[in-house]
Amino acid sequence: MHTSIDVTMTVNGERVSRRVEARRHLIDFLRLDLGLMGAHAGCEHGVCGACTLKLDGQIVRGCLVLAAQLDGAVVETIEGLSDNNTIRDLQDAFIARNASQCGYCTPGMLMTAADLLASNTSPTRDEIREHIS
Ligand code: FES
Repeated sequence: MHTSIDVTMTVNGERVSRRVEARRHLIDFLRLDLGLMGAHAGCEHGVCGACTLKLDGQIVRGCLVLAAQLDGAVVETIEGLSDNNTIRDLQDAFIARNASQCGYCTPGMLMTAADLLASNTSPTRDEIREHIS
């Protein structure tokens, strides 16, 4: 028997309410329940960063957070940042420097890079490496 829990949260500025399985991770909730396919599930144990999201203003791994714990939370995904042009310059820079590579983790890289630039507008290479890692 699976336990389900009602949650209401704000995702990319929109209030959403759903009944979720207690063990459903945030990344799966966003992709499977809300159809937000930007972030990906890769390693599913917090290492690769493909599932990176913002939760209550903090960068998190979506594969390590349970959706059922997030009643009242504020979640931002790559779709939200992209749709409101928050990361336009960053996206252009990734394209110009072919930084996307295969593209699978690019949304997580963009989320993390945007998070760094929000607190440090001129990071050193070491600071970029440290933050992305
Ligand atoms: Fe790899 Fe979450 S899927 S860190």
